[in-house]
Amino acid sequence: MAESLGGRLLRKKSVAQTQREATSHSLKRTLGPVNLVMLGVGCIIGAGIYVMTGQAAATFAGPAVLLSFVIAGIACGFAGLCYAELASTMPVAGSAYTYSYTSMGEVFAWIMGWLLVLEYGVAAATVAAGWSGYVASFLNDFGITLSSAVSTSFVQSSADAAGHLTFSTTGNINFVAAGGILMVTALLVIGISESAAVNNVIVFIKVGVLLAFILMGVGFVNPANWTPFIPPNQGGFTYGVPGVFRAASVIFFAYVGFEAVSTAAGESRNPNKDMPIGILGSLALCTVIYMAVAAVLTGIVPYAQLGVREPIALAVDRMGMPWFSFLIKVGAIAGLSSVMLILTYGQSRVFYAMARDGLLPRAFATIHAKFRTPWIGTILLGSLIALASSLLPITILGDLVSLGTAFAFAMVCVSVIWLRKARPDLKRPFTAPWGMWTPVLGIVFAAIMAAPLIIDIIAKAMNDDPIPAYILGSYLLLGTAIYVFYGYSNSRLGKGLDVLDDTALQGPLEAIAHGVDDRR
Ligand code: ALA
Repeated sequence: MAESLGGRLLRKKSVAQTQREATSHSLKRTLGPVNLVMLGVGCIIGAGIYVMTGQAAATFAGPAVLLSFVIAGIACGFAGLCYAELASTMPVAGSAYTYSYTSMGEVFAWIMGWLLVLEYGVAAATVAAGWSGYVASFLNDFGITLSSAVSTSFVQSSADAAGHLTFSTTGNINFVAAGGILMVTALLVIGISESAAVNNVIVFIKVGVLLAFILMGVGFVNPANWTPFIPPNQGGFTYGVPGVFRAASVIFFAYVGFEAVSTAAGESRNPNKDMPIGILGSLALCTVIYMAVAAVLTGIVPYAQLGVREPIALAVDRMGMPWFSFLIKVGAIAGLSSVMLILTYGQSRVFYAMARDGLLPRAFATIHAKFRTPWIGTILLGSLIALASSLLPITILGDLVSLGTAFAFAMVCVSVIWLRKARPDLKRPFTAPWGMWTPVLGIVFAAIMAAPLIIDIIAKAMNDDPIPAYILGSYLLLGTAIYVFYGYSNSRLGKGLDVLDDTALQGPLEAIAHGVDDRR
């Protein structure tokens, strides 16, 4: 009897199948808790703190951006526990995409994968836009002035006197950001990756630089800049409590990447104990660092002046120590480069997993004979990210990332609930604590993160500022069209075929996770 449409849309990979994909890796269990925390911090600290904190304080929350960090950190904590549970049960490539394929079915997996591709791709573009700001500022210190025509985006955002953001177009193209992404793409195609040692060095540099900023900046804080702590609301999400939540949805971006720890579950020596330490430890560490940086930042520079591309460099300039400003910029550029690489890598691997499963054309699952990387998809996506980073400002890009991430988190939490009900018998090396409360609160907090963004995107669309709505709408329409006209009928699962083996892949995340260079 022919399968019904609903049945086909909801066809699922079996848990055994995903576990088989996982074991085909035969990964070594080498990672301890410290490595896992370093992995998390390496993926987390980037444009969120170096760039977006300033925008979030100036436009939405004022000094209360500190509270926004707490709210976003809690949201990530609940989702992080759920990630850890699924990762320990099904340690496979594709992360949340594969979890959804196993729990909720193909159409949800497709949505999840499509959103993850958006999330990682736009996040990489966002980091590149922030990177270009610090590169321009760094070169400026050496007397090399990059024209804004080649180092700022085609679409620009600006805040009016009341702090409301509006967008306009210019003749500029951010070639610097695009160049950064194309370099990273080239590295990914030829398979050159960060080894665990390089990751550790970058983590030390970026954390060290932020700690130095906190310690040296404290002496320059003017407590008067912290009052009013929550500036009075000026309508919409401009300041007040709504502004604190809107800023949390911006700041949410600063935490994206911690879920990379969950992808290392298969390599953890003792997942039951170490996965929560890795995920929650890196989250807690970053939350504390972020809050301290935000406190010092808003204490040195009045919040209304922080809406620039390199707010931390601005604060350091106010401290009048040019040599320290140099260090800050070097730290920012190093940290942002590594996050850019890892995000672009993550995106290419989700895309690869979808192509391997037949939901995208098989060409994107082709592994390069010499480099052992999924080069076609990497080049296509890298070019699209470069285009996005050259055209769009960080404000639009960051919001799209936060929205995609909120959906991903919610679906991961739903997957935990589903899997616990449907397969209570499964071996779970790590189980998220507090019963169903954790996934349920994870969904609630994801909704709290997404709600201000959705309201804002709709409000902007109704106020003749439709750019974010156009981008999101066209992306979702394109995704639907690809699934309807391609994925639905080409799905390997739908054809009764097993998925392909992906042991041939090489990449930086695998290298970091394995604690070795990837030229195995
Ligand atoms: N969390 C990463 C960053 O802030 C994406 O750059």
